[in-house]
Amino acid sequence: MRVCRRANFNAAHRLFRADWSDEKNQTIFGKCNNPNFHGHNYTLEVWIDGNIDPETGYVIDLKIVKDLIKSEIEERFDHRNLNLDCPEFDDLIPTAENISVVCFNLLRTKLDSKYSLTIRLWETENNIVEYSGQ
Ligand code: NI
Repeated sequence: MRVCRRANFNAAHRLFRADWSDEKNQTIFGKCNNPNFHGHNYTLEVWIDGNIDPETGYVIDLKIVKDLIKSEIEERFDHRNLNLDCPEFDDLIPTAENISVVCFNLLRTKLDSKYSLTIRLWETENNIVEYSGQ
């Protein structure tokens, strides 16, 4: 059985590598390399796989997941500049792929190992990434 809690956060980023030339950054990252950053309204889906607890009828109380997302993700990243404000991205380009890995790792350590975890991150309506730990 799989259950999901969805959340939103707004954040700014810039995709670039300091060890590449301006020209190469522009070729690879295009508009996402805008030096003055740009923002996204991210939608995060946290999917949890487990068995239905016969006592509660829940896989997991989604209020617990809601609170975890708030403390681990929203309070860290909402209304932040991922490049400048968030040490998680000091040495990591804040692509949707890497943001989903960071979110996965933050939540994984807080979740009982009996659950499987999948992160789905919507950067735009049409650009979506998914990470389950590999
Ligand atoms: Ni972007």
